Amino acid sequence: MPSSNQFSATEPAELSTVAAEDDVQAHWNRVIKRRSFLKGMTIAGAAAVPGSALFASGAAASDSARLTDGDAAILRFLAAAELIESDLWEQYTELGGVSVNGKSDGESPGVPAGGGNAPYVAALTSIDGDMPQYITDNTDDEFSHAAFLNAYLEAHGRRKVDLDEFRNLPSSTATGARNKGRLTNLMNLNVDTSWYTRYRSTANVDFGASSFAQLLTIKHQPAIPTNKADEQNSARIQAIANTAAFHFAFIEQGGSSLYTTLLQQASSVEVLRIVASIGGTEVDHFSLWHDKVSTAVAPPNNVTDPVTHLAFPDLSSNTDELKQTNLILPEPCTFISPALPKVSVIRPSSTANSGAVAAVNAFTDDNLFDGQPPSFFRKLMELAEAADAARRDV
Ligand SMILES: [Fe+2]
Ligand SMILES: [Fe+2]
Repeated sequence: MPSSNQFSATEPAELSTVAAEDDVQAHWNRVIKRRSFLKGMTIAGAAAVPGSALFASGAAASDSARLTDGDAAILRFLAAAELIESDLWEQYTELGGVSVNGKSDGESPGVPAGGGNAPYVAALTSIDGDMPQYITDNTDDEFSHAAFLNAYLEAHGRRKVDLDEFRNLPSSTATGARNKGRLTNLMNLNVDTSWYTRYRSTANVDFGASSFAQLLTIKHQPAIPTNKADEQNSARIQAIANTAAFHFAFIEQGGSSLYTTLLQQASSVEVLRIVASIGGTEVDHFSLWHDKVSTAVAPPNNVTDPVTHLAFPDLSSNTDELKQTNLILPEPCTFISPALPKVSVIRPSSTANSGAVAAVNAFTDDNLFDGQPPSFFRKLMELAEAADAARRDV
């Protein structure tokens, strides 16, 4: 069915109107037919359909009729991103999270018992006493995001995203790490710290700014203890915990921009609600971790890693606006037009700078997938390109 904007501007107005009316009628016929089908399915055989409980309400049924290919592509890429987030946060939790009587403190199925590496927990706690709890809670959130997005896709007749064939990367051999295949590698990271100066700047990469300075350069550095030797070296384990703190914020600021970008391409109100609501949680995570890095660059945590020689500076008394540690709320910046007043916003929020392909590239530059085969990158990039190609269709 052609959409109204496919009619030529030179077409006679009367003909266009008749055709548009036919168009609307055909659309309604399809909606009614689809609703009748869903209603019948709910009554007669809902139990046979995965996730069919979501169809129980009329609202869910009508929204299911509006799940476009573009919406499905957006949700599929986000499901992949959440599986990746879940995998990395799972590793952080095993070593540095919390457990209750040796069990997971998370609500979501699959969240492991945490805090298995006492020196790492101590180093994280030196940054903030609540770090282990926050790590477990962030992990719980990511597991819930992945499970929800995949269940929603299946409930709407779409394939869920499965990355299990790529869970082959090695685990850490430090105390507390389970020996299982991983999607992500946290033991050789390049952590981009430019988000720190980006959120303190009044410039916006979507509207003219070129790039932002790194706060510090973190290259080929572990964010979890890689082996038992790491956990026995106090400066080394603190540098590893500090790296993790910066990595937490890097990951979650990326999620904040990714969701803000993709929601502009959603068609159904329900998908818009999902992307906005999960995206809000990513922003919440980012804000938390942004606050926590301030004590990773202050005494007594500003150590130098004796193995990699990565040196954390002492920024505790720095008053340079791009480095001051308590300026954790987004500085107003250029947005939409330089002619408009500067405004405090999530940035960037454009396909080029923070869409799905940009997210895959950022994860890859982070060395998060160090050791994955080309087929993994191909699969992820296919999902990303489909999501970026989605267009709002209302
Ligand atoms: Fe998430
Ligand atoms: Fe996240």
